[in-house]
Parts: sequence; structure tokens; C-alpha cells
Amino acid sequence: MKITAFSEGCGAVVTDLQLANLTNDALVELRGVFAEYGLLFFRNQDLTPDQHLEFAERFGRIVINKFFKTTTEFPQIAEVRKEKTQQTNIGGGWHTDHSYDAIPAMGSILVARTLPKTGGDTQFANLAAAYDALPKNLKKRIENLRAVHSNTHLYGENGLYRLTDLSEQLGGVDRVGDATHPVVIIHPESGRKVLYVNPGHTIQFEGWDFTESRALLDELYEHVIQPQFTCSFNWLPGSVTFWDNRCTWHQANNDYQGQARLMHRITLAGSALTAA
Ligand code: OGA
Ligand code: MN
Repeated sequence: MKITAFSEGCGAVVTDLQLANLTNDALVELRGVFAEYGLLFFRNQDLTPDQHLEFAERFGRIVINKFFKTTTEFPQIAEVRKEKTQQTNIGGGWHTDHSYDAIPAMGSILVARTLPKTGGDTQFANLAAAYDALPKNLKKRIENLRAVHSNTHLYGENGLYRLTDLSEQLGGVDRVGDATHPVVIIHPESGRKVLYVNPGHTIQFEGWDFTESRALLDELYEHVIQPQFTCSFNWLPGSVTFWDNRCTWHQANNDYQGQARLMHRITLAGSALTAA
């Protein structure tokens, strides 16, 4: 397999590798590359749903998203779907998957199924690189803080998504909940320090009031979305993206109104997060 950095500080492209026919040695090598980059792009994979599932199961343990519809064939595969008549897309703002869980998901494997003619890229951010580059005083201010992560404001009864034309395809209104996590974690595989807050799910710092929290969160977010930590992936038929939810953010561009887009996602389970 060949690894090429995708942008200055975000992601890598893996070539000369078919995910459907991975040898055990290649799988071991891929685990190392995944730990190093936290965000891998693959082209021309043409994975069937069976092969998507098989790769996911070889890499880790699957967790099922509480809110998304799944394919009829495989309950482990979530559909990230936007019909051509729908206005709102799933994941249209910066977030990381499942940070509202007590033990958040390790990674997500996204496979393109139906793509718009133009648009529909996914943007990513590297939260290990962003942490490293934080000014010293900001590192000091977030040391030892914990933050509350939630999904109620999105998937709860009056949550953001419930008030949009996505609501009919979402389940789990009664399965909402919160979790608290350290703001700076040690990545379990790379050992790097990572900034673990995100605009989609982080509500406030534990023990702080909302307004105070908002100000510091916004300061951190502004730092993360700088070009040196972010990249944008243009999907093509056969593309697959595999990201680590502990050290990346992502958001889906909603710039293809009137066209359909369908992606298949499998989410892999993580382990309890450790404070830096
Ligand atoms: C997701 C997600 C982004 C996209 O599957 O978790 O946010 O580009 N999708 O569809
Ligand atoms: Mn997502």
C-alpha cells in the first residue's frame, strides 16, 4: 500500500490497496497508518455492502447509531440520505460522531452510494494537530477541564433535526442523552494529545455556565477551522473514507439542492477516553 498526505495537516490517501481483499499483514499495516493519520481516503474500491461490513468487522466492533435509518439488508449499516426534494442534510455542521456517548465511537467508515453531479464534499479537521498548535495560554486554560456532550438539541423532541424535513427519517427521539469527557484526551493508539470538543455536540464545560462556556468554545473552534488543520474530500463513485472520531471533526457540504445523495456508514466502537 502507498500512503500520500492529502493536505498539509489533514488526512492521507491510501492507494495500491483493495479493502475487500485485505491480507492480515495489510490489515496490521493499515491499523498503524490509521493511528498515525486518523483520517484515510480510498478511491476505486467499489465495495458491496457485504464487503463494507466485512472490512468493518475485521477492523473492530460495530456500534449502531441510535437515530439513523439502516439499510433493510444490514442493520449495521446506517444510511446518510438526502433525497432531491429535501433541503436539510445530515451532518451539515462541524461535529464528530457519537461524542454524546459515555464511550464514544472509535471510527466511522463512509462509502459513497449515490452522489450529486457536483458538490456534496465532506470537510475534515485534524484535532491532534490543532491541539499541538494552540497558544500556550489557551492550552493552560483548558487543562483539566471536562465538557458536556449531548444529542438532545439535535435529536430530542424539539431538537434541530426534528424541526426539519429530515425528521421523518430519524428514529430514537426517546434515546437522547448526555456524557461528559475530558477536554484534552490522550489518543489511545497514537499517544498524542487531542482537543476533544466539537461544535455539534459539546454544550458547555462542566461546572461552568453556558455563556462563559460559549465564549471559550468559540475561541477554540475558530482555531480549529484554520486551513492548516482542515481539508475537503471530493467524493467519486467507489470512494471510501475512514475517520477516527477521537481526533477529527467532519461536516457534509449541503451545496447540491435538488439532487440526491446517499452514503452508507458503519460505526466502530471505541474505548473509554483518558484525560491528558
Ligand atoms: C456521517 C456524516 C458526512 C457526509 O456519516 O457521520 O456526518 O459527508 N456524514 O455524509
Ligand atoms: Mn457524522
